[in-house]
Amino acid sequence: EQLAVLASVLRTAVDAIIIIDERGTIESVNLATERMFGFRADEMLGQNVKMLMPSPYHEQHDGYLDRYQETGERHIIGIGREVTGQRKDGSLFPLHLAVSEVEAKERKLFTGILRDISDFKAAEAELKQLN
Ligand code: HEM
Repeated sequence: EQLAVLASVLRTAVDAIIIIDERGTIESVNLATERMFGFRADEMLGQNVKMLMPSPYHEQHDGYLDRYQETGERHIIGIGREVTGQRKDGSLFPLHLAVSEVEAKERKLFTGILRDISDFKAAEAELKQLN
């Protein structure tokens, strides 16, 4: 019962929630991820998370994961970052990305929580115009 409630909360959260393994392979996405990026879940599961980002991140993201594996240096984990996402139709949008490392049995998984900040960015730009 508790697990079912938790699963439902994650599934219907407003933020996109994406779980990847240590190689970047997408293991799980919620409904907001489908809405945000325009891909169906089955188009994302089993693919590399780099499918959701433009160049140069697309080419470099595997390297970021490798570097973290080797050095343990955190650049986004526990810190957060504004990054650029790429939808299925190729359009780009700004998002805030928070990443945490999951303790799973003998496996390394990462959870990403992504919030579309397009509206925030538009408001920010308008404010700048006023000054
Ligand atoms: C590292 C971009 C999505 C997990 C990075 C770095 C960048 C980046 C630029 C390296 C940061 C640095 O070296 O300063 C992006 C972009 C995304 C995205 C543009 C757009 C969709 C995700 C998602 C996850 C994730 C959804 C997890 C589910 C990681 C991990 C690292 C990393 C584990 C290495 C650890 C760290 O640097 O703290 N990403 N990322 N990324 N990203 Fe992503």
